[in-house]
Amino acid sequence: MIDYASLPFRVEPMTLQDIPPVMEIEEVAFSLPWSARAYDYELRYNEMTYYFVVRQQGRDVQLNVPARQSWWRRLWMRRQSQPILPAPVVGYAGFWVMVDEAHISTLATHPQWLRQGIAQLLLIAMTERAAEIGALAMTLEVRVSNTGAQTLYREYGFEVVGRRPQYYSDNREDALIMTTPPITSAEYQRVFQERKAVLLTRLSR
Ligand SMILES: CC(C)(COP(=O)(O)OP(=O)(O)OC[C@H]1O[C@@H](n2cnc3c(N)ncnc32)[C@H](O)[C@@H]1OP(=O)(O)O)[C@@H](O)C(=O)NCCC(=O)NCCS
Repeated sequence: MIDYASLPFRVEPMTLQDIPPVMEIEEVAFSLPWSARAYDYELRYNEMTYYFVVRQQGRDVQLNVPARQSWWRRLWMRRQSQPILPAPVVGYAGFWVMVDEAHISTLATHPQWLRQGIAQLLLIAMTERAAEIGALAMTLEVRVSNTGAQTLYREYGFEVVGRRPQYYSDNREDALIMTTPPITSAEYQRVFQERKAVLLTRLSR
């Protein structure tokens, strides 16, 4: 588990309210974007899925607390579950559990927030969650041309184990299948914990 208190970002479960900001990223990040309805279905009805968002830390906005109130009344009102507008979503990801594998179905970072470790935070959160629920390995498909994402996955121990010819319908591009070794194995944990420590040190500066 990551203690997000000292980090500029935090990872949380995705909720239905997150779908509009997720769709804004989805539509620029992918040439075959999912629909809002697909996310709605995944969140409401698919019990085998786990979706997460990343938000900036400390950017939530408390709503509807009238300014002209005594300090104790404002405090009381805040404690009465005043609605909070959560900080904007800067990245998201999710996985399906299929038999004993966690299959990453999506992962994207807002274009203005690239190369700041957001995708790594999501990969870490997903791997930890997958291990908790007993998944043995992480797996995914990635476009052959998406070398940036492949670099990220390799750094987290994913290896190419196969290829799906013409997997993507927009340009008939092949997908590489990338999979980790068993995620709770000592061998994998060594790589994973090392990468995680490097990221957390970098982010907490
Ligand atoms: C792939 C993607 C999720 C990476 O998000 P990100 O938040 O920028 O990734 P991180 O900052 O966590 O990057 C971690 C590492 O991955 C590698 N990496 C990420 N993007 C890269 C790129 N464009 N080129 C080369 N390496 C890249 C780097 O090693 C990077 O570490 P560094 O910045 O210290 O060099 C993002 O580029 C994206 O949303 N792309 C569009 C959607 C997509 O392709 N999703 C993956 C589908 S399989």
